[in-house]
Amino acid sequence: MNIDIKQDYPELCAAVAQQVIDCVAAKPDALICIAGGDTPLGVFAALVEASNDGRVDFSRAFFLGLDEWLGLGRDDKGSCREMVWHHFFDKLPLRDEQICFFDGLTNDPAAECQRVDAFIAAHQQIDIVVLGIGMNGHIGFNEPGVSAENTCHVVDLDPVTQAVSVKYFGEPRDVKQGISLGIKTLRAAKRMILMASGEKKSAIVAKTVQTESSSDIPSTLVKDHPNVTLMVDRAAGGQL
Ligand code: PGA
Repeated sequence: MNIDIKQDYPELCAAVAQQVIDCVAAKPDALICIAGGDTPLGVFAALVEASNDGRVDFSRAFFLGLDEWLGLGRDDKGSCREMVWHHFFDKLPLRDEQICFFDGLTNDPAAECQRVDAFIAAHQQIDIVVLGIGMNGHIGFNEPGVSAENTCHVVDLDPVTQAVSVKYFGEPRDVKQGISLGIKTLRAAKRMILMASGEKKSAIVAKTVQTESSSDIPSTLVKDHPNVTLMVDRAAGGQL
């Protein structure tokens, strides 16, 4: 795994955004997956700016959602759908058919998994995936103990993830399950970026680098991907 440590969060986000821009320049109809959560917010802003400036053209690109809380929809503050649309999709001139995102309000999660698996299969491969590393090492909702053989699947959320979620929702919400791309799906991507920012992520970043690949720390399960880079700011890389 390559490691790239940037000075601060803005520099980190600019560098991650540039990776996405380069991917689309090389393949205008690329399939792009960028996590929700706080970590990539600066990447979204940098990409919107690049689109407005004409430095990237997303008109032929496709976007894939990474995960969603089951039971929450776009009107629920802090849902992945709400965050990603608010900070990214709503600010770009995209057509609906360019986006495939889990519907957290589905009453048939298994069918929803099949729908998203089929979308990825139709595109053959995710061209670039930008993942945030969670406090417990989760990537998407691939929680500690996850199988590396999963494609899209429904997840019982880890207590750490449930506790962290309050910061998105502004209040505790009764969310016990999520739906997520699986480790197998992610590992099949052409290019992977594992991203972390801030001192609070420094311990899990160090564990990701220093621990043998183990389902106890899902972020370690992609370390041996042939084209993965861990991109962090100095604060998150402070224990490396
Ligand atoms: P975030 O992720 O910092 O990108 O919001 C937090 C977590 O999943 O633990």
